[in-house]
Amino acid sequence: MTLNSEYAIEVHNLTKRYKGLSAVDNISFTVKRGEVFALLGPNGAGKTTTVEIIDTIRKPTSGKVTLLGMDVTRKKYNIIPRIGVLPQGFSSFDRITVKETLQYYSRLFCCRKTDIDGLIAIVNLKDKVKVQYKNLSGGLKQRLGIAVALVNDPEIVFLDEPTTGLDPRARRAVWDVLLGLKKKGKTLFLTTHYMEEAELLADTVAIVKRGKITAMGSPGELIESNADYLVVMLKSVDENVFDMVRKMGFAPVYDSHGDIRVRLDRTDDVRRLLNAIEAGGASFTGLDVRKPNLEEVFLKLTDETLVEGSAGIKEAQ
Ligand SMILES: Nc1ncnc2c1ncn2[C@@H]1O[C@H](COP(=O)(O)OP(=O)(O)OP(=O)(O)O)[C@@H](O)[C@H]1O
Ligand SMILES: [Mg+2]
Repeated sequence: MTLNSEYAIEVHNLTKRYKGLSAVDNISFTVKRGEVFALLGPNGAGKTTTVEIIDTIRKPTSGKVTLLGMDVTRKKYNIIPRIGVLPQGFSSFDRITVKETLQYYSRLFCCRKTDIDGLIAIVNLKDKVKVQYKNLSGGLKQRLGIAVALVNDPEIVFLDEPTTGLDPRARRAVWDVLLGLKKKGKTLFLTTHYMEEAELLADTVAIVKRGKITAMGSPGELIESNADYLVVMLKSVDENVFDMVRKMGFAPVYDSHGDIRVRLDRTDDVRRLLNAIEAGGASFTGLDVRKPNLEEVFLKLTDETLVEGSAGIKEAQ
């Protein structure tokens, strides 16, 4: 890989070890300027460790990371003014207001004049400027955190789980802010557990598992290259259907809506399955046969369940 500043980020054979554990295990990738790149992976996969090495907070054990053409370990102080960071679980001072928070962080960056009102407009917190941090809802706190990450008008913004723990409406409000930044041409590097978030925002998604990248590409490419099976969804209140499907040697699961989902490797199996249900006298009220979505591809590639709060598949009891 050539080190070329057409790239915002270049990661080459990056490894981070903690005693016996490889938290990040020899990963390589590049992020172009203006691209939105998402790291997707289960708890403990190494996302935060990766982000914090790239954004200069932690040191790698080995490998090379270059930001805007500069080596992160040697040019840290040239890099910091040009990046913004929303750390995982961002928190601020309880008793200072939204505006004061931004003024404070802006002063920390001392060398640039921040357009505080412009920033407040970007994250849509105009009505909250005089509200103390402790009185903001979770979603508003995250939007303030994004504004803090932007006080130095950075070229690259790192966002570690920007929407974890937010309700769907608050999550959408954060997505709107991030889509606005994308439109402005900022390079965004985010980590997430949410497939919908990755599909909506990211140009490139890297799926990580135990420190390794197991798949990488656009959401569409990831689905296409892993869609070597079909997902059949059966709506049924007839409990026999589940057992019949299982007895045929398939592995049905109930999804979060109570529908039965079955993974089938061959088109022929669809016919076989439906014939067997009919012959057994069981009934269903709805049927859908489709390719897997990003969430199912993620589960296949990581072989682990998602965090609480996402629409994961539940095993049958
Ligand atoms: N400072 C540290 N010392 C020792 N082990 C660490 C340290 N930081 C992280 N780890 C371990 O490295 C692994 C990766 O952790 P990391 O926080 O990067 O995961 P993550 O993908 O961000 O997880 P989550 O989704 O829960 O935020 C975990 O096993 C974690 O316990
Ligand atoms: Mg993390």
